[in-house]
Amino acid sequence: MAKDFSDYRPSTQAAQALGWVEPATGGITPAIYPSTTYERPPVQGRPKYLYSRDDNPTYEQAEQLLATLERGAAALLFSSGMAASAALIQALSSGDHVIFPEVVYWGVRRIAKDIASGWGIACDFVPNGDLDALAQAVRPGQTKLVWLETPSNPNMGVADIDASAAIAHRAGAMLVVDSTFASPVLTRPIEFGADIVMHSGTKYLNGHSDVIAGALVAKEANQFWNKVMAVRQFGGAVLGPFEAWLMLRGMRTLFLRVKAQSESALALARHFEHHPAVLEVLYPGLPSHLDHAIACRQMSGGFGGMVSMRIKGGEEAALRVWGACKLIKVATSLGGVESLIEHRASIEGADSPVPKDLMRLSVGIEDVNDLIADLEQALRAA
Ligand SMILES: Cc1ncc(COP(=O)(O)O)c(C=O)c1O
Repeated sequence: MAKDFSDYRPSTQAAQALGWVEPATGGITPAIYPSTTYERPPVQGRPKYLYSRDDNPTYEQAEQLLATLERGAAALLFSSGMAASAALIQALSSGDHVIFPEVVYWGVRRIAKDIASGWGIACDFVPNGDLDALAQAVRPGQTKLVWLETPSNPNMGVADIDASAAIAHRAGAMLVVDSTFASPVLTRPIEFGADIVMHSGTKYLNGHSDVIAGALVAKEANQFWNKVMAVRQFGGAVLGPFEAWLMLRGMRTLFLRVKAQSESALALARHFEHHPAVLEVLYPGLPSHLDHAIACRQMSGGFGGMVSMRIKGGEEAALRVWGACKLIKVATSLGGVESLIEHRASIEGADSPVPKDLMRLSVGIEDVNDLIADLEQALRAA
């Protein structure tokens, strides 16, 4: 970080990538360091950089910016959001217990249900937002992680980080928050008591649908964090310098993008909330949303670019709307500058808790009137 850059506001820190100037040339765009290995002075002791499976200056720039934006002590980039999630589970020991919300990114559900049990890690699921169920489910001394995802994918539930952290900490567990949908622009979970923040960097952090990436941010670089670092180093799920550079470039426009996407998403949610073809709009910025009060407390500067809609007429009608979109791309993923729409239940499989009439929309930075017109014509056509 450039000297005194810590005094600036987060959007300034992001826009100038912490004020780095490339030391060799004075370039204001950070350099990419592709080297996998580094000259070792023939003396005892470890040089700062040794091998790029451990560390690379290009990873560090993006990591430092993300740790600063999330108010964390340290960050680590991974080769995907799933690699970052799996690293947390891999850093546990056989016999440990983890609690997940029932509606959680389906890949995380697959790790919990299909993989963690093979490692002797017990996993339980509790209804999203049910603090009593969470308090009942924690096993003091055995529960090591309580996992939240907020807003949740794709039901848009907003979890109370503060209250969940209190329950986790009383049981001796750490609170992990998947903050992919919110990004550090809207919510900084560490400020509400989270111990670890997880991101699919593929989404808002990168923002251009051209990098698969993941990240973890730690409130404290403690013993567990050292284990997570070892999992990345020896498991090898590093991001690579080209992708890390693209992610850093994306993060420089993060604040502009997320603010614009949040404004458009709110306008779109308001427009379709009482639409005759729409059963329900799920968006935490609407006062009708079940978790609106928590969202107002925990999210600042907007409620995000993700909107889910339940379509009247069930799954068949939802699939027809999906197919009738012309401008909004029918594709998975989210958080890019282009708007995407997806029918989640059809890809999540039989144990998906997602309603079959739900369409998930990732709002891009196009003119919101064009997006509304496209959805209007798709609802009419369906
Ligand atoms: C909320 C959430 N968490 C985690 C992931 C996994 O991230 P990745 O696809 O980068 O592995 C996703 C992907 O869509 C997601 O939406």
